Amino acid sequence: MVIRVKVKNSSYNVIIEKGVINCLNEHISSNGKTLVLTDSGVPQIYAKSVADNFACPFIYVLPQGEQSKNVNNYQAILSFMLENGFTRKDRLIAVGGGVVGDLGGFVASTYMRGIDFYNVPTTFLAQVDSSIGGKVAIDFGGVKNSVGAFYQPKGVFIDTVTLETLPDRILYSGLVESIKMAATSDAKLFEYIENCASVRENLEHIIYNSLLIKKDVVEKDEKEHDLRRVLNFGHTIGHAVESYFNGKLYHGECVGIGMLCMSSDTVKERIYKLLTKFGLPTEVQAEPRALLDIAMHDKKSIGDLVVGVYVDKIGDFTLTNLDVNEISRIVERFL
Ligand SMILES: NC(=O)c1ccc[n+]([C@@H]2O[C@H](COP(=O)([O-])OP(=O)(O)OC[C@H]3O[C@@H](n4cnc5c(N)ncnc54)[C@H](O)[C@@H]3O)[C@@H](O)[C@H]2O)c1
Repeated sequence: MVIRVKVKNSSYNVIIEKGVINCLNEHISSNGKTLVLTDSGVPQIYAKSVADNFACPFIYVLPQGEQSKNVNNYQAILSFMLENGFTRKDRLIAVGGGVVGDLGGFVASTYMRGIDFYNVPTTFLAQVDSSIGGKVAIDFGGVKNSVGAFYQPKGVFIDTVTLETLPDRILYSGLVESIKMAATSDAKLFEYIENCASVRENLEHIIYNSLLIKKDVVEKDEKEHDLRRVLNFGHTIGHAVESYFNGKLYHGECVGIGMLCMSSDTVKERIYKLLTKFGLPTEVQAEPRALLDIAMHDKKSIGDLVVGVYVDKIGDFTLTNLDVNEISRIVERFL
């Protein structure tokens, strides 16, 4: 399956194919130098299989985890590339989840004013969400994704076989991003996930249809001026919950809670059932005042207002500017 993403100054293919990591040289020139960036939690066989496609590969392994998306690693990878004589004609391929993709993309966007970047996402979240759209970043000054760029990949290669080694908790946490996109934009996909007996046996259908939603949004609003905010459904409160629990809950788990806060009663009931079905949390014990403070510092805020996405009916959404009182009511009603 191939999805073509068309944005202003670049277009690229997202190829969804079992085993594609073993034949990347059918899609990318094997000449020149290739940096394969991965992390210590990604089974090393994936980076090795990718590297084997190229004439002159280098594998760079980061420690796993969000804390790797930092300026020290950014600088270390740039130094490694300089020391090994990478030029503007060479390329970087990220093999891993959103952490490796975001950091790798940011390195590629700035090394020699930009080199070719390819993404081989190996988590569900990265396959349905972070690998397309061109948002690349590192965390800086204690703020997530505070330094980054919009830099589109030259190609994205999704091999669902890589998800076989992904633990269920990480898989289902990533699935929340598909539930999120379906809730706002595709009632049929939402029903499909509701009726799906096994996600692992239906990965390609869910990934393909989630990517169609993301592609549509990215093509209409590449730089997140307006429509792209729909992808933040569940994120206003979700980010606050994520910061509050400081790494104890996964991103998708927090977004799930955030979606419950921003839905009508009927939608809430359906999302609640889905979260329960996949063993995802549906409530948290937190101090409302602290959550509110964090939510009001959300970087998507405009002055004293935070842009929220509200779902009244599955498959549809509205954007709403929330002030401190409204967020406070939402948080207090929920906790
Ligand atoms: N750029 C975007 O548009 C965008 C969108 C959403 C999220 N993000 C970013 O994505 C990041 C989260 O991504 P994530 O959830 O993929 O986390 P992650 O990259 O940290 O991966 C989660 C864990 O899974 C391991 N892993 C990866 N692939 C594996 C596999 N196939 N088998 C076994 N283990 C594997 C990793 O080593 C890691 O420990 C955050 O930094 C977030 O800010 C970016």
